[in-house]
Amino acid sequence: MDSVKHFLQFKDFSRAQFDYLFARAAWIKAQFKAYRKYWPLSDRTLVMIFEKASTRTRLSFEAGMQQLGGSAIYLNSRDSQLQRGESVEDAAQVISRMSDVVMIRTFEQALIERFAANSRVPVINGLTNEYHPCQIVADIFTFIEHRGPIQGKTVAWIGDSNNVCNTWLQAAEVLDFKVHVSTPPGYEVEPARAGLRSALHYEEFSDPLEATRNSDLVTTDVWTSMGFEAENEERRRDFADWQVGPDMMRVARPRALFMHCLPVHRGEEVAAAVIDGPQSVVWDEAENRMHTQKALLEYLLLGHVDVSSDVAKSDS
Ligand code: CP
Ligand code: NVA
Repeated sequence: MDSVKHFLQFKDFSRAQFDYLFARAAWIKAQFKAYRKYWPLSDRTLVMIFEKASTRTRLSFEAGMQQLGGSAIYLNSRDSQLQRGESVEDAAQVISRMSDVVMIRTFEQALIERFAANSRVPVINGLTNEYHPCQIVADIFTFIEHRGPIQGKTVAWIGDSNNVCNTWLQAAEVLDFKVHVSTPPGYEVEPARAGLRSALHYEEFSDPLEATRNSDLVTTDVWTSMGFEAENEERRRDFADWQVGPDMMRVARPRALFMHCLPVHRGEEVAAAVIDGPQSVVWDEAENRMHTQKALLEYLLLGHVDVSSDVAKSDS
């Protein structure tokens, strides 16, 4: 099962693979917008396992798989035997004999790694406590659509050094850009947990305004991620000075964009004036989850596709 390609964290793919994925996502998006059928995955089945809530991830994978001619099955831990103690290894053996690709949203990254080690088919990380790689593929595709290549640019991350932040940091290493991170004391980046190779692609700032200065993209996320609800009140106090407001957007570059993976708490991590303002591209960002994940599904199942003839060929 070692030869199966998985997408468990951002750094699983190279810059060349992302360049290919972004080009395919643009082509697949254009087919969708023109109401042209593109069914390369007919008879293929995606199984989606959710141990945490989701709107965008479920919808974008399910709709995306259907639009590629395949089908998607939703499992949640409440209704499956996983909740009752069936081992992840056994579940992976069984699920991967009945499907062509699996997407998992869960708590510990270790669980998804164990599942992948026992899966005959590709496994996609749909969010863990540590990473959210599909989100950042969509975010960077959105940046490219609006502003061109991200190489050499500066992204300001304001708030919690969570799964989305860790994935931005990995992306900066793979795609060669910089991240300016500002977190409250006690919530700093943990390089090993983030899976970083070096400290060359990010810089930490105690003042969020300084982190945003001259940045090309300002982004943030909820102060309390799923699974950490017990810390909610404490985090509300600790993060109070880390709200992205118009003051921060003013010191960013004039053409800076604002992104948020959603769902958002307006008035906490970001002011309504910013997320609902002219620099915000959050709806494009959400929509692009679907287009980029369709490219990912196509790539994991069919390898490189010969676009000129629309004939899918395997590159393995
Ligand atoms: N951004 C994101 O992953 O949203 P959901 O939690 O709704 O899937
Ligand atoms: N950091 C958030 C992202 C939700 C899409 C969480 O893990 O809850």
